[in-house]
Amino acid sequence: MRFFIDTGSVAEVEEIAAWGILSGATTNPSLLAKEDGEPADIIRRICDLVGGPVSAEVVSDDAAGMVEEGRALAKLHEHVVVKVPFSNEGLAATKELSSQGLRVNMTLVFSANQALLTAQAGATYASCFMGRLDDISIDSSAVVEEIVATLRPGGTTTQVLAASIRHPEHVVTAARLGCEVATIPAKVFRQMLAHPLTEQGRERFKADWESRPEFVEWLRELVSKQPASA
Ligand code: G3P
Repeated sequence: MRFFIDTGSVAEVEEIAAWGILSGATTNPSLLAKEDGEPADIIRRICDLVGGPVSAEVVSDDAAGMVEEGRALAKLHEHVVVKVPFSNEGLAATKELSSQGLRVNMTLVFSANQALLTAQAGATYASCFMGRLDDISIDSSAVVEEIVATLRPGGTTTQVLAASIRHPEHVVTAARLGCEVATIPAKVFRQMLAHPLTEQGRERFKADWESRPEFVEWLRELVSKQPASA
């Protein structure tokens, strides 16, 4: 499963991209509305930072308007993927945009039927919102499981993207159930890092090593003898 970051914050993308584990990013109107600066500059900067697919969302309600906005957003950067909210108009817009060779991320997908229709329209990604399902007491893992199980047999190329990730367990569930991508907020990425035994183990290794100053000196000398790396 590949990791995208779910944010409109360039600072968060810079932070997590430095870990070397990002394959892309997703934005949405709510995330971008929180940020200062021009949306075009933010989207382009995020594209440059992640070097992979970055979803930018249309806001029109009709297919013609979505297609116009989608084509304009796609021209911002080669990595832009057009994000389209699920609806009948969204399906029509996705069909048109994908027939023009543009990648579409169909968002606000909450059922296997919506995912099937999304795949038929030619979307590259179907974004299923786990957190928002859990918010209304619908077991998101059951929905994701059904979406993956429903799309797979048909041999569709539409990838299941787990979105609205609220905690690290959502990420594990998405991977276990076979999602191709999870889009994760920076806060959850930081939580995924944490394990008490890892921290404890690092401290003990460090303390044990430093208890032998001659070893510390030995390693420092070993490094100093290495030719300067390019
Ligand atoms: O970007 C779409 C989605 O991940 C937003 O999730 O529910 O945290 O607003 P949410």
